[in-house]
Amino acid sequence: MDSIVPSTSSASSVAASVPSTLLSPLPNRIWAFEAIPRLEMESALPSVGEDCLVFEVNGERFEVSEIDPSTTLLEFLRSRTRFKSGCGACVVLLSKYNTELKQVENFTVSSCLTLLYSINGCSITTSEGLGNSKDGFHPIHQRFAGFHASQCGFCTPGMCMSLFSALANAEETNRPQASPGFSKLTVSEAEKAITGNLCRCTGYRPIADACKSFAADVDLEDLGINSFWRKGDSKEVKVRKLPFYNPKDHSCSYTEKFEDEYKSTRLLNSKKYSWYRPVSVDELRNLLHSDMVENGKRTKLVVGNTANGYYKETEKYDKYIDLRYIPELSVVKEDHSGIEFGAALSISKVILYLKEKSKGNLRSSGDMVFIKIAGHLEKIASGFIRNSASIGHKYEKITIEDFLNRPPLEPKNVLLSVHIPFLEPIRINGTFQTNSRLLFETHRAAPRPLGNALPYLNAAFLADISCSKNGIIVNTIQLAFGAYGTKHATRARKVEEYLTGKILSVGILKEAIKLVKGDVVSEEGTSHAAYRSSLAIGFLFEFLNSFFSVGSAITSGLYEDLNGLLLNGFAKSNSESEISQIGNPPLLSSAKQVVESSREYYPVGAPMPKFGASIQASGEAVYVDDIPSPPNCLHGAFICSTKPLARVKGITFKSHPQPAEVAAVISVKDIPREGENIGCMAMCGSEPLFADDLARFAGDLIAFVVADTQKNANLAAKTAIVDYDTQGLDPPILTVEEAVERSSFFNVPPILYPQEVGDFSKGMAEADHKILSAEIKLGSQYYFYMETQTALAIPDEDNCIVVYSSIQCPEYAHIVIARCLGIPEHNVRVITRRVGGGFGGKANKAMPVAAACALAAHKLRRPVRIYLDRKTDMIIAGGRHPMKITYSVGFKSDGNITALRLDILINAGITADTSPVMPLNIIGAIKKYDWGALSFDVKVCKTNHSSKSSMRAPGDVQGSFIAEAIIEHVASLLSMDVDSVRNKNLHTYESLELSYGSASGESVEFTLPSIWDKVARSSIFDERIEMIKQFNRSNIWRKRGISRVPIVHEVHVRPAPGKVSILWDGSIVVEVGGIELGQGLWTKVKQVTAYALSAIQCDGTKDLVDKVRVVQADTLSLVQGGHTVGSTTSESSCEAVRLCCNVLVERLAALKEKLQEEMGSVKWDVLILQAHYQNINLAANSFFVPDSNATKYLNYGAAVSEVEVNILTGETRILRTDIVYDCGQSMNPAVDLGQIEGAFVQGLGFFMLEEYLTNSDGLVVADGTWTYKIPTIDTIPRQFNVEVLNSGHHPKRVLSSKASGEPPLLLAASVHCATRAAIKEARKQLKSWGAADGTDSVFQLDVPATMPVVKQLRP
Ligand SMILES: Cc1cc2nc3c(=O)[nH]c(=O)nc-3n(C[C@H](O)[C@H](O)[C@H](O)COP(=O)(O)OP(=O)(O)OC[C@H]3O[C@@H](n4cnc5c(N)ncnc54)[C@H](O)[C@@H]3O)c2cc1C
Ligand code: FES
Repeated sequence: MDSIVPSTSSASSVAASVPSTLLSPLPNRIWAFEAIPRLEMESALPSVGEDCLVFEVNGERFEVSEIDPSTTLLEFLRSRTRFKSGCGACVVLLSKYNTELKQVENFTVSSCLTLLYSINGCSITTSEGLGNSKDGFHPIHQRFAGFHASQCGFCTPGMCMSLFSALANAEETNRPQASPGFSKLTVSEAEKAITGNLCRCTGYRPIADACKSFAADVDLEDLGINSFWRKGDSKEVKVRKLPFYNPKDHSCSYTEKFEDEYKSTRLLNSKKYSWYRPVSVDELRNLLHSDMVENGKRTKLVVGNTANGYYKETEKYDKYIDLRYIPELSVVKEDHSGIEFGAALSISKVILYLKEKSKGNLRSSGDMVFIKIAGHLEKIASGFIRNSASIGHKYEKITIEDFLNRPPLEPKNVLLSVHIPFLEPIRINGTFQTNSRLLFETHRAAPRPLGNALPYLNAAFLADISCSKNGIIVNTIQLAFGAYGTKHATRARKVEEYLTGKILSVGILKEAIKLVKGDVVSEEGTSHAAYRSSLAIGFLFEFLNSFFSVGSAITSGLYEDLNGLLLNGFAKSNSESEISQIGNPPLLSSAKQVVESSREYYPVGAPMPKFGASIQASGEAVYVDDIPSPPNCLHGAFICSTKPLARVKGITFKSHPQPAEVAAVISVKDIPREGENIGCMAMCGSEPLFADDLARFAGDLIAFVVADTQKNANLAAKTAIVDYDTQGLDPPILTVEEAVERSSFFNVPPILYPQEVGDFSKGMAEADHKILSAEIKLGSQYYFYMETQTALAIPDEDNCIVVYSSIQCPEYAHIVIARCLGIPEHNVRVITRRVGGGFGGKANKAMPVAAACALAAHKLRRPVRIYLDRKTDMIIAGGRHPMKITYSVGFKSDGNITALRLDILINAGITADTSPVMPLNIIGAIKKYDWGALSFDVKVCKTNHSSKSSMRAPGDVQGSFIAEAIIEHVASLLSMDVDSVRNKNLHTYESLELSYGSASGESVEFTLPSIWDKVARSSIFDERIEMIKQFNRSNIWRKRGISRVPIVHEVHVRPAPGKVSILWDGSIVVEVGGIELGQGLWTKVKQVTAYALSAIQCDGTKDLVDKVRVVQADTLSLVQGGHTVGSTTSESSCEAVRLCCNVLVERLAALKEKLQEEMGSVKWDVLILQAHYQNINLAANSFFVPDSNATKYLNYGAAVSEVEVNILTGETRILRTDIVYDCGQSMNPAVDLGQIEGAFVQGLGFFMLEEYLTNSDGLVVADGTWTYKIPTIDTIPRQFNVEVLNSGHHPKRVLSSKASGEPPLLLAASVHCATRAAIKEARKQLKSWGAADGTDSVFQLDVPATMPVVKQLRP
């Protein structure tokens, strides 16, 4: 009998999170596992109910039949409703009737994991259901907009729903009513409401502010810049100006009639599919039994279906059995022995119960266990996953040791319940030990402190100890470890046995630690195996450490066995209190923003909310994949090479012939005779769309499968089998060293090659000290825009085609498509409204995506669209350039550097893309210091890797870091304070000019020296250095470091087109070449339009900004749009628009004068109406070309960051960051502030978290949210202060403004440098204790400085 086959791949999760030892102080029964044995058919199967699903979305009723049960709610929302939801916005509110409690429950779920069948009888609310542009926005939307908490907007609806759910939950508590306008939510809950949500644009701080603004305990003074109140407003005024929140106004729309309707639906059956909803264990038994009878049917038990988020199952099932309606599986029972949780209960409910049970205090050992289990469970996934994820899930993951020790279960065993026993005091020989004390602790080391990241290690320890006159006796002890790279959690048996009955001493501890090393061993192939093992030791040490009092006689000799934990110093520290502080971190504790806005060009300069932020929050903003599919639309997916260099002999599918849903497999052979194989036009030429016969890198596009749905296209691409042949081919070039050996380089045109400074040999000759041939290696970074690559191509009449693309340069996609299809450019139209995050990844890399859709649509004469899954996106994206740097530097004894020589090998991948510009950018950023003489050789290596492309501050971020690494190295060798070496080598204006030439501008524009001092003052840098010294002296297990870092960042201003048209009613339509990516380009353009048109000086121009609408880019309507890259597109677009407005003002001037004479005063509307009647041309075009002496300029900023490193885990927390950044005269300080914070946090990801790993063939293996960790709200600086400096008048700049998009990203190096400083302190401490090895202050801290990297470096 074919049957449910339990997955063998399920090893870690719950086991890892709730190890069995937590629950078992005594060797009696702990968690109850009840396997349902095979039974004879006892009762009839449930009778057939209705065959259609009924549910509501935003109050609209849907009845659905004949739908594949593997369909997710997200797929349904996107394809069958007008309501949107997508990656980043997948969180929706589910309202459902609880038959046990007889009440409606509301909770958020992830619509991309929730199966549509499981929402039968439920009501779904999306962000648009809370409020919208037609019915009025919800205060959440309004506050998100007003606190500038939405940039590209792609994540915003999901954020709003997470907050809404937290607000709704808070209302259900019995806390006292909050004051009017506020919720019962606390500030801490408000921040935590979004811990599971990702945002790549904002840096989270403004989102946290928007959330906190609802909290009952919020101090409005703590909230950041917003459009509601002004500085100095009283509390009352502030409260009045906040959009009013009344919890009763916005309850969820559950229709009560569902209650009866869905109760009767026990089986949703159709010709093809069945979904069973048994309501008793007997019924379940019978279903399982009947299934065995029906040979060959595949059945799946389902609860929340969230496991699919990890396993990404593609297998199809014939039957689904939903376990959530069996009362025994959904109840909590409590008796004298303990608490029993039904296996289908959600993790959230278990947490709630455990918390309620213990009421948050630690009165008894039992309460302590409950609270700690709840705390640990809270780190699994995110709130909206835990709300539907059951504690049962894969039964192999349950960690009862007996259970774990048995062989894999028979198919069709079902977990019914989990039993947590109450703790009992220990009995020895049947008698309770009165002086014994129970201790229980859980640990988790994960890249994100608050969860939503796979841990490196979970641990739970339970011990019963008592005091004797000889010391502390361990009566019993249980030590469990999980998630460290074994199939399931394990008990460290040998250690337990060893410790039981022992009196704790140094020798005992030493031996125990040795034994742990042998017990906690990861399986082969587990990443960071040594780190995981050292964590186990560290956690055990931390636990046992609490049994000793300060000053205990731990003397020496443990260092080696602890793999680095030097206990010599133990007695010197107040370790008990210190370690107890390594608990739950507070999130963003405070933030300050200082902006100096100017009214010189009003409304330019005003911190206006981002245009469209409210519709972004409500989910009404339209991104490419939100455009409804035209009839007959097909969907595409790429088949990519998994080999770095191989001939492609053919493609077959697992099911022969190709799956029925596949309409075509498009490849190079399908390019029309008159077209060409082109997928991208980059600065140094074009690049192919498809691999010809030869795949040249892992990720090369071999073909494009087109099917009826996106899901089927993805499935077909996934199951395609590519036949490769490598015979006779040279080996691929996979490293820069191999590229050098085989002279595989891209040419860098001389005009792009940077200029050397001074005479290197002379500089070296002047040096007192030299570092020769030191090396640094830097890896890549993935863009992680929330909206992956997407396009929709629609064939039009007369061989034309319209392509909607999420792209930063539609003009070039336009050319590529025309050339690929072999049609004139006027037959192509590329439209881009907004982009859900780009960061450079939607420039060149979006072109092949649009071209493939266009090619398929052109060939099949049907619309074709694609929305890349994250994995494919990550495989083909390329990302930042990895590189290897070798440097030699000469310097004086006082830290003054006299000469620097760099040899840089850049791994550019297979095509040139934008790589030839990298040398200029890298060296440009390195020049931020005065090196005396600077000489270099930069080679752009061609390798068999995916082509690397521009990512926000490409080359600049690496260059800036290289400069800091060299400074750090010099300081270490001289044993000097790093900040003073920086100070010594900062530019004077003269040396700046020598390095940057005309980009340096006038000396008054050189604001770096004042910024440098300013940031020291605002961050109280000197005082904190002293405080940190003091902290480091009195703490052993945590070390702090602080660092101040400057940046000089050159940008180039490019030409840009603009078009302004004034309509009959006086409203204004603006088109610009620049694309709205979230950087606020449209908002600045609106402000400039209003400012420039107000020069006409008539009545009503004050509110002109509200009359302006910027519309989507359309390559036929406005040509020469260019690229939206390099930080300067906003200012160029603004200038282009200003030129148009100047023309219009000139055209209107005479009429205005005439009307003024006639009427005394002229209103804008009247003027425009008259102008239309008098046939004045009210549309103006322009093409802004910057003056040749104003095409480049320098940006300046500085940051101070302080971090704390946990010596036991390698975790780095950013305690505080202060930034001062010169925006010139900011066009919109709120927008620029958002760019600064967002860029900084993205830089943080590069320096501290994000590992874009590949296998040995170069195929990306960190290919999803499970393995690639961008910053979340719990990883940003706890105190985050930013000052947007207004440096006054810059005549050569557009309205005196300066760029903000990329340069601040470089400032995140300050965090890396501070981490290095903290590690240095740890190493210094070790040295002071006499340890021999690993204490050198000269060491390399890799990028990213992840937990294992940091742990490995500290001694
Ligand atoms: C983003 C994310 C992060 C996560 N992080 C963690 C983490 O840090 N630690 C951790 O432990 N887990 C983690 N998980 C896994 C999570 O705990 C599981 O997805 C969840 O518990 C599964 O519950 P479910 O009700 O959704 O199960 P489903 O997905 O519905 O089912 C999972 C499997 O178990 C089977 N099954 C379900 N119930 C039973 C039962 N009663 N008896 C027998 N078989 C059954 C199903 O047939 C299916 O094969 C994470 C998941 C996600 C999506
Ligand atoms: S605004 Fe959050 S991802 Fe863009």
